[in-house]
Amino acid sequence: MRYAAAFAIAVAWIAVAGATERGGQSSASASTATRHPALAGAQNDATCASCHTDITTRKVLHGPVAVGTCLRCHTLNQAGDRVAIGLANGATSENTAPLCVTCHEDMAARLKQAHVHAPVAAGGCTVCHDPHGSAFPFQLRAQRNEACLTCHEDVAEALRLKVLHVPAAASCVLCHDPHASPFPAQTRQRLNGLCLSCHAPEAFTPDDETPTGRRAWQRALAAAGLSGSRRHIGLNAVGAAGHPVYGHPVQGVRDPLEKGRELTCVSCHNPHGAAGGALFRFGAINVSGLCIKCHSLLAMPKEP
Ligand code: HEC
Ligand code: HEC
Ligand code: HEC
Ligand code: HEC
Ligand code: HEC
Ligand code: HEC
Ligand code: HEC
Ligand code: HEC
Ligand code: HEC
Repeated sequence: MRYAAAFAIAVAWIAVAGATERGGQSSASASTATRHPALAGAQNDATCASCHTDITTRKVLHGPVAVGTCLRCHTLNQAGDRVAIGLANGATSENTAPLCVTCHEDMAARLKQAHVHAPVAAGGCTVCHDPHGSAFPFQLRAQRNEACLTCHEDVAEALRLKVLHVPAAASCVLCHDPHASPFPAQTRQRLNGLCLSCHAPEAFTPDDETPTGRRAWQRALAAAGLSGSRRHIGLNAVGAAGHPVYGHPVQGVRDPLEKGRELTCVSCHNPHGAAGGALFRFGAINVSGLCIKCHSLLAMPKEP
């Protein structure tokens, strides 16, 4: 429900943004509309651009717009005074994916991964990207994290808490692929490798099953001005135990509080922000407040 409401707000916000850009006219029915003003003579890419100059004058232009090929994406049917403009390849306003993947072929394959981000699965590429251009990299409709937080109010809330996770404030896409990945929550690497790529002791080689590969990951880190963390945790040679206390497992056992899930870094830490401690979950503000959450359920651990 929360997401449905946020989605509706985001879509409404985009409609308003679109209308403002074009001087107040509504864009609500762009692809299905049949009320395009009558056009004299034969039309081509150049004639489109001659009237729609607002589209071709943005800071970051989408490739095909930069070279003026409007009719790669728009269909045109002219019969006398009636002009109908639609979208190519069966795309609709809500589901533009069939159009986008005609050129972005790799994306079609990427969308077959196990975990696809909900708005992407619905084909809503233009929820985040303006099809023509915008002021922001990748023709995004908003700057960096704003492109995510308009829908994810719970994460925005976490980022307003006392303890902030530095990479989350820097860039959501450091850890999440905005489109799809083989891992839950579209993370770029499997847990715990994701966390250990920044927090492992130098000698430890983390899991590297990323959809885009290690090089892309490191480029993303560099772009966000991060190369890792100064806070390295101690773990045994296979990275399975040894934190936060000697012998404590960090994987390979069940999470007592999350049915069907393995214990991982996020069993104890919120990856975005928290009220206290070292990003502790459950609102815990100190170590004992955290331990008790599980160890009041588990048999008391033996003295080491
Ligand atoms: C003579 C000027 C002119 C030309 C040439 C022109 N348009 Fe338009 N177009 C307009 C106006 C005016 C509107 C309505 C106001 C608005 O929504 O911006 C419009 C609306 C649109 C819309 C949104 C409404 C709808 O009917 O879907 C699209 C999409 C569009 N034009 C695409 C194109 C394409 C593609 C071409 C080239 C084949 C083109 N236009 C050529 C003036 C023009
Ligand atoms: C990559 C595909 C693509 C290209 C290239 C493209 N458009 Fe569009 N255009 C779209 C999509 C998708 C929409 C949104 C349609 C909808 O919401 O129904 C759209 C909407 C529009 C609209 C109406 C809404 C708005 O944003 O103003 C106009 C006008 C328009 N396009 C004109 C053009 C013109 C002129 C060109 C060439 C300079 C062009 N388009 C090139 C995909 C494209
Ligand atoms: C007609 C072919 C074509 C279509 C259709 C198309 N694109 Fe593109 N797109 C391109 C080209 C060409 C580039 C520029 C290539 C580059 O810079 O790597 C590009 C670049 C992009 C980029 C920036 C990539 C980067 O690395 O900077 C994004 C984001 C993007 N397109 C999204 C979309 C979306 C969303 C749609 C559907 C609404 C779409 N594209 C449809 C051809 C297309
Ligand atoms: C939830 C928002 C969102 C949606 C929906 C979305 N994208 Fe993106 N996309 C992004 C962001 C953010 C980036 C920049 C990623 C980065 O900085 O690494 C991006 C980057 C891209 C790129 C260039 C880099 C790359 O990963 O290849 C392409 C191409 C692209 N998107 C196409 C698409 C297409 C096609 C769709 C629909 C199937 C789509 N996007 C839907 C947010 C989104
Ligand atoms: C238009 C609204 C919208 C935007 C913008 C958006 N998301 Fe989402 N996101 C959703 C919806 C809806 C879901 C599905 C929620 C669910 O299933 O509980 C979702 C799910 C997710 C999930 C997975 C949640 C889970 O438990 O599996 C992650 C991670 C995520 N989004 C990250 C991002 C990031 C990063 C961005 C920015 C690049 C972003 N989102 C932008 C609507 C959006
Ligand atoms: C340091 C890595 C990291 C960064 C950066 C990050 N996340 Fe996450 N995020 C995760 C992990 C790991 C999970 C899975 C948590 C779980 O399974 O309990 C997650 C879960 C989520 C979820 C689903 C659960 C929830 O809390 O609603 C959403 C939505 C989400 N992230 C959005 C975002 C957004 C938006 C940003 C940027 C402001 C962001 N994330 C930045 C690692 C990260
Ligand atoms: C992109 C690198 C990066 C990734 C990935 C990453 N972190 Fe961090 N983390 C940092 C940085 C930077 C800090 C800030 C401390 C510092 O400068 O060393 C930090 C701080 C922390 C802190 C201490 C917070 C405090 O204020 O006490 C915890 C706990 C933490 N991270 C847990 C995690 C977990 C759990 C994950 C996986 C979900 C994760 N980190 C993934 C970079 C990263
Ligand atoms: C059983 C709960 C638990 C698990 C699982 C866990 N942590 Fe922690 N973590 C803690 C506690 C408690 C602290 C605070 C220790 C202290 O203050 O002495 C902490 C502190 C940290 C810090 C801050 C260290 C510093 O020097 O300030 C980082 C970084 C961190 N954890 C990362 C991780 C990563 C990465 C994982 C997964 C491999 C992980 N944690 C798994 C409980 C946990
Ligand atoms: C998210 C749940 C969770 C939290 C929070 C948690 N633990 Fe654990 N702990 C476990 C699990 C699961 C085991 C393994 C139990 C088993 O093997 O039966 C464990 C095992 C232990 C052990 C035994 C380790 C060994 O050598 O076998 C100790 C000691 C321990 N925990 C102490 C702590 C302390 C101290 C804290 C707070 C800093 C804490 N735990 C927080 C889940 C948790």
